Amino acid sequence: MEVVIVPDAMAGGELIAEALAALLRRKPDALLGVATGSTPLPIYQALAAQVRAGSVDAARARVCQLDEYVGLPAGHPESYRSVVLREVVEPLGLGADSFMGPDGAAEDVQAACEAYDRALREAGGVDLQLLGIGTDGHIGFNEPCSSLASRTRIKTLTQQTRKDNARFFDSLDEVPHHVITQGIGTILEARHLVLLATGAGKADAVARAVEGPLTALVPASALQLHPHATVVVDEAAASRLKLADYFRATYAAKPHWQGL
Ligand code: PGA
Repeated sequence: MEVVIVPDAMAGGELIAEALAALLRRKPDALLGVATGSTPLPIYQALAAQVRAGSVDAARARVCQLDEYVGLPAGHPESYRSVVLREVVEPLGLGADSFMGPDGAAEDVQAACEAYDRALREAGGVDLQLLGIGTDGHIGFNEPCSSLASRTRIKTLTQQTRKDNARFFDSLDEVPHHVITQGIGTILEARHLVLLATGAGKADAVARAVEGPLTALVPASALQLHPHATVVVDEAAASRLKLADYFRATYAAKPHWQGL
């Protein structure tokens, strides 16, 4: 995988937004897999700024969700559907029909998971999947010990993840226990994986994912299996990487026209 160390979160957001813009210039109806949480927000802000400035046209872009809470009432502001509509679909000026996500309110959750997994394939597959990383090494909501071959399914959140996400709710009790997440096998089918991690709190998870063994204990280590995976980290999140100097030198030597 390629590891790119940037000075701060803003620089990471701009770099990844440029990769998304380049993809949209090449393929205007690309299917973009978007992540939620705090980390990717600078990406969406930078891309929306490019759209407003007219340097990229996102009108035909399609967007799909990585995961969703189970059981939140329709329209709940913290459902990932609401978050993606608010942070991505509206700022980019996309139509609501350009957007795909799993149905976290379905009566038959298992069937909803299978339908979403199928829909991603039928849509031609994800061109670029954005990822965050949990402090426990999760990607999507694939918590430690998730099968590296898993498909979209229901998962139970660890207490750590519920605590990490409690800041989006009024109290920890309101954070759902269950989620639908694209499986690790599903995520690995995207053509390009781009993981952004910022802040010292992610340093340990990043080091384990990038330099540790491939293991279901660290779901993000599955990126090691992907032929086109990019990990963008700020200095704080890179602070435990043994190969940081090598990663810096490699990226500095890369022809700039290659992009991410
Ligand atoms: P965060 O979440 O960006 O809010 O830290 C990342 C994740 O849990 O994948």
